[in-house]
Amino acid sequence: MTRAAAIRPMTRRAAVEWAVAALNGGADRRLEARRLLGLAASLSPEAIIGHGDVALDDAAWARLGDLVARRRRGEPVSRLAGEREFWSLPLRITPATLDPRPDSETLVELALERLAPRERAWRLVDLGTGSGALLLALLSELPAAFGVGIDISAAACAVARDNARALGLGRRAAFAAANWTSAMAGPVDLVVANPPYIPHHEIDRLAPEVRHFDPRRALDGGSDGLDAYRVIAPALPGLLRPGGWAVLEVGESQAAAVLALLAAAGLRSGGAHPDLAGRIRAVTANR
Ligand SMILES: C[S@@+](CC[C@H](N)C(=O)[O-])C[C@H]1O[C@@H](n2cnc3c(N)ncnc32)[C@H](O)[C@@H]1O
Repeated sequence: MTRAAAIRPMTRRAAVEWAVAALNGGADRRLEARRLLGLAASLSPEAIIGHGDVALDDAAWARLGDLVARRRRGEPVSRLAGEREFWSLPLRITPATLDPRPDSETLVELALERLAPRERAWRLVDLGTGSGALLLALLSELPAAFGVGIDISAAACAVARDNARALGLGRRAAFAAANWTSAMAGPVDLVVANPPYIPHHEIDRLAPEVRHFDPRRALDGGSDGLDAYRVIAPALPGLLRPGGWAVLEVGESQAAAVLALLAAAGLRSGGAHPDLAGRIRAVTANR
């Protein structure tokens, strides 16, 4: 059914059916269709399912058409919503920020294992903070901690700052636009980072949802993907207190190379760590 051919006035239920068909059907598409209608008409899932006979106004119908068209062109639903849940926290995202990945929650777990007891006034740094995902997840678990998020993008820092405020964490978080550690003085207890690590020549082979919608400087790790680690690793001993930890996300098959950079900087390896699917996602090292 084309939108033009749809019988008007269209109900919420019929709008969902239209969107499912336009998104090429399937059970997962129904959830997506409801989410898009929710965005278009500012409706909760309950209002869509429980009040399916209510007619949709023209403005919502037009917005739904736009959202479905963008989705059909490959734009992720999180981008359409401008929001992503990470560590059960709702985070605003914009074209300036990476869409945080559930896989990166492994870094939060690794960091929390190294910050006991949780009530201590831990000092944290998040390098390449993007939406603030990692830092804000940690602060949400560490009631007396203070953290600084650094990003080369001032626009990303502004998003992270807004997210911190919205989550009630604004007084324990600061964000600064800077090149990695150049603006930072230690000592801190833990540095967490998910730097860009995709080798330059692989970016064009990434899924369109990533390639077209995540910022290039959040992805591009230079010719072998390790450029950022080459800058960050030598700076860590000057930033961490003795015994302090670095928890770094790495790309597939990069763990050994990154651990070697950390060892060359004088840090002790804490190992390479898998995510729940068994893929190595992170390395840790301490001073
Ligand atoms: C892979 S994203 C990670 C974002 C966020 N930490 C997350 O996990 O969702 C990498 C981030 O590093 C930032 N970045 C790239 N080059 C940088 C640099 N030279 N100094 C500081 N941040 C940088 C990017 O802007 C991007 O936000």
